Amino acid sequence: MSSPFYSLITGASSGIGECFARALAAQGKSVLLVARSGEKLQALATELKATHKVLAEPLPMDLSEPCAGEKLAQLVVQRGFQIDLLINNAGFGARGNFWALPFDKQSAMMRLQIEAMMELTFRLLPGMIDRRKGGIINVSSMTGFQPIPYATAYAATKAFMNSFSMALREELRPCHVAVVTLCPGGTRTNFVNVGARKGRHKFPGGPQPPEEVVEDALTQLRRGGGLVVPRFVNKASVFSQRFLPRGTVAKLLARMSKP
Ligand SMILES: NC(=O)c1ccc[n+]([C@@H]2O[C@H](COP(=O)([O-])OP(=O)(O)OC[C@H]3O[C@@H](n4cnc5c(N)ncnc54)[C@H](OP(=O)(O)O)[C@@H]3O)[C@@H](O)[C@H]2O)c1
Repeated sequence: MSSPFYSLITGASSGIGECFARALAAQGKSVLLVARSGEKLQALATELKATHKVLAEPLPMDLSEPCAGEKLAQLVVQRGFQIDLLINNAGFGARGNFWALPFDKQSAMMRLQIEAMMELTFRLLPGMIDRRKGGIINVSSMTGFQPIPYATAYAATKAFMNSFSMALREELRPCHVAVVTLCPGGTRTNFVNVGARKGRHKFPGGPQPPEEVVEDALTQLRRGGGLVVPRFVNKASVFSQRFLPRGTVAKLLARMSKP
């Protein structure tokens, strides 16, 4: 028997978001799948319903449109869906000199990774707080811990997400709503092929399978939330840079990430 509550996953048409959908459906959780690619979402929903006997609904939407978070939250209410887990995962990167990248693309990135994430959280939280039960997983990035030249705006959106998400976790602690801030390093998805990561930068041990990243996040959710940096090598990198001057870190990263 599937739960009357849904997990809403943004960016569910591929990569980490699709893995979240598969993992949650395998646990018997019903899912709402959001991304722009309606056909992919429909195919995934059909598969999850048939395989796991859960409810699964595609909600195709471009979350980089102005007020998209509000529109999605309204749709959820109109259709009577109750959300007990929100996964803000949709995202994309852009590499190159800040001034040479199209501004429209960079502002769409900000609306998707900051505005839609914040608005969905704001609109869907009250139900969780009232029920004193729920969870939020914000898929941020290791890039959120320091400035990344040539992925300047992308890393800044993830710095916002880290700060927002970790602060919110503490505010929500007394309300029994868990918040996970997930900061993956290189992960084997379309993002590595087409997004901010394309270039010379190599990941120690190669990109991580998205299934591992998702498992770490769901484990932390069961523990009541917190910061997740998957893989020892990523944890060591985040920890060690705290002993270097911030300007030195930016300079080193400029050398490493120059396209
Ligand atoms: N892969 C990595 O190395 C890595 C590392 C650290 C953090 N991350 C983060 O992980 C998250 C997921 O990325 P991924 O690696 O799984 O890459 P991915 O396979 O490219 O997935 C990105 C997802 O976001 C959706 N999306 C993109 N723009 C959207 C928009 N305007 N409106 C709605 N949905 C949109 C895409 O679907 P449609 O194209 O169908 O809309 C897709 O489902 C991102 O936030 C990324 O920053 C990835």
